[in-house]
Amino acid sequence: MMIIGIPKEIKNNEYRVALVPAGAEILTEEGHTVIIESDAGAGSSLCNEDYTAMGAEIASSAEEVYGRSDLILKVKEPQPSEYPLIRPGQVIFTYFHFAASKDLTIAMMKSGAVCIAYETIQLSDGSLPLLTPMSEVAGRMAVHEGAKYLEKPMEGRGILLGGVPGVLPANVVILGGGVVGSNSARMAAGLGANVIILDVNLDRLRRLADILPPNVRTLYSNRQNIRQCLADADLVIGCALSRGTKTPILVTREMLGLMKKGSVIVDVAIDQGGAFDTSRPTTHSSPTYIVDGVVHYCVTNMPGAVAGTSTFALTNVTLPYAVQIARHGWRDAARKDKALMLGLNIAEGKVYLPALAELFSIENVGNAENMNSLC
Ligand SMILES: NC(=O)c1ccc[n+]([C@@H]2O[C@H](COP(=O)([O-])OP(=O)(O)OC[C@H]3O[C@@H](n4cnc5c(N)ncnc54)[C@H](O)[C@@H]3O)[C@@H](O)[C@H]2O)c1
Repeated sequence: MMIIGIPKEIKNNEYRVALVPAGAEILTEEGHTVIIESDAGAGSSLCNEDYTAMGAEIASSAEEVYGRSDLILKVKEPQPSEYPLIRPGQVIFTYFHFAASKDLTIAMMKSGAVCIAYETIQLSDGSLPLLTPMSEVAGRMAVHEGAKYLEKPMEGRGILLGGVPGVLPANVVILGGGVVGSNSARMAAGLGANVIILDVNLDRLRRLADILPPNVRTLYSNRQNIRQCLADADLVIGCALSRGTKTPILVTREMLGLMKKGSVIVDVAIDQGGAFDTSRPTTHSSPTYIVDGVVHYCVTNMPGAVAGTSTFALTNVTLPYAVQIARHGWRDAARKDKALMLGLNIAEGKVYLPALAELFSIENVGNAENMNSLC
């Protein structure tokens, strides 16, 4: 039986929590001990008593949670103040997005912990089941945020996405037609905007052309097509993803100059490095900055702001994997489930994600295909 700890998230304006009371009930019924840091659920309107009623214990500090737990369930990547709390052999199950931070990668290698990343768990059809619900949230939210920052008092062009009768709607360009992109397209189209969605995967574009409304058009993603779209764009949403590595830069510094003053970029892909050369991570408390007159919104934890929705959407998909890790231990759980095995990024000082090792030229590499090497 395991001790499972849930610390309070400490990233800027992060209100999600990694376990809801229904999850605490399932884990304690299996005989595990669940320790949740006091008020960890408060940002999602969940109080300590909701958890204790389901058999969880309340810990007064993060030190106690990390100090006692075999398995830590989190939402966002460990912050520097949490690094020293992580113990060798402890399993950390959370979003890591290692490709965006060499410092985090090195810190987790040095910690000797087992880092299983939500975002690289992958089903046999190639889908990323633990990224999907947060991508759905971020994709929808990107349009809200874009609409807000297009307003004049927010330093935007003063354009209403849907226009009004007699005045044309805004042009929304979406770079990447995956989960984020398709959700953004649906929202923007619903508001009446003119939408163009670009991707390099033609099958994906065929499917989107079939299912999305007629005010969404599809376009193959290459530099020339992106350049042409930028000149007319009011809102550009960056949401391309190259699995396990940095986002490809789709809009260079020089291409930004093609955009109108007061137009808005929402770079959802910032958590993997960003799709724009001029993107740098921002926070909910200071979400935007301006380059060449273009408003940049690059918040790395967008769903954290709508925790009342996101916590439940996230834990619906993470809990079954947490149950497997707790029930079998991380090695056996990964051996039994290839999807979970692909979530293994770093274990006991070695990197198990080839794209990550290559990105940061790390030599200490494990062989995730051969789980015997983990024993
Ligand atoms: N900032 C946040 O809070 C937040 C929240 C959720 C997701 N995300 C991030 O959003 C990004 C997208 O996630 P997703 O779930 O939509 O991924 P996805 O895999 O469903 O979709 C990515 C799409 O990008 C396309 N793509 C790859 N290269 C491209 C290129 N050169 N041009 C255009 N398209 C290209 C792929 O073909 C794919 O269709 C990820 O980096 C994810 O981590 C960020």
